[in-house]
Amino acid sequence: MSYPKTRMRRLRRTETLRRMVRETRLAREDLVLPLFVVEGSGVREPVASMPGVFRHSVDALADECKAVADLGIPAVILFGIPADKDARGSGADAPSGIVQRAVAAAKNAAPDLCVVTDVCLCEYTDHGHCGVLDGEHVRNDASVARLAETALSHAAAGADVVAPSDMMDGRVGAIRTLLDDRGHEEVPILAYAAKYASAYYGPFRDAAESTPAFGDRRAYQMDPSNRREALREMRLDLEEGADALMVKPALPYLDVLADARREFDVPLAAYHVSGEYAMIHAAAERGWIDGERAMHEATVAIKRAGADLILTYAAKELAAGL
Ligand code: PBG
Ligand code: ZN
Repeated sequence: MSYPKTRMRRLRRTETLRRMVRETRLAREDLVLPLFVVEGSGVREPVASMPGVFRHSVDALADECKAVADLGIPAVILFGIPADKDARGSGADAPSGIVQRAVAAAKNAAPDLCVVTDVCLCEYTDHGHCGVLDGEHVRNDASVARLAETALSHAAAGADVVAPSDMMDGRVGAIRTLLDDRGHEEVPILAYAAKYASAYYGPFRDAAESTPAFGDRRAYQMDPSNRREALREMRLDLEEGADALMVKPALPYLDVLADARREFDVPLAAYHVSGEYAMIHAAAERGWIDGERAMHEATVAIKRAGADLILTYAAKELAAGL
């Protein structure tokens, strides 16, 4: 049956009708808020390229976590920025490192809040790469060992979920084995499985002080041109024991997310990254778009494509509007 018997506009006539036939609904439970933690006390410094995003010291982070939990957001993901960096990223797995202390403070302030930790070395290495080096080469297996130690230290500090974002081969398996050996068999792994070498990470690297000192991450993060390869990455991470998978960035990779939704039964996360967030704010500041609507639309699109969890810097504003 076609026009004029069929009229698609009939079910769009009123907001009530539109609500009734809406296929995708954003919920607070879908959201995960990324937070940056720095040394000091009473620190709440704005990140210039990400309006509304702050770097908190451990004490201020605890207050922030309480506020996040009160808004009904179930989870945060923590990124640590240490005072000192070295070649092997010693701060990443230090028992009283910045993230380890932040996890403890967050759990203490908001016991029901799910505290996820980003497991990587780039914020802790003086060269800014996600692993350890041999000359200018990022060594895979040596890096995997450091990453597993890092994940273990996060779990020991009380992290509810660990999320490796480094893109070394075999790290999920190594993390699973070490966690299990050391009594953390119930800590899930959320694998940044399809993580692309993206231009959209720029503002994050300012916030986390993790820009590589030389070269780029293309020898370990994925080539943006590749779609089928993402399924291989995700399949391998599942075989190694990942409990949930992530696609990152989000909007430019909704095809990959939709593929993953069709292919896998595990929970899927998507990361609406710093550059995606910054672009919306930048255009809104110029009066070129309605920032609030654009942010909501972007987030709904990510859920519509298949994400169960959405990591977004806009989680608080979104939750307040739901
Ligand atoms: C660290 C990491 C990055 C992001 C999350 N974890 C940066 C990178 O890989 O360069 C990016 C997040 C964002 O841009 O919001 N490996
Ligand atoms: Zn990294």
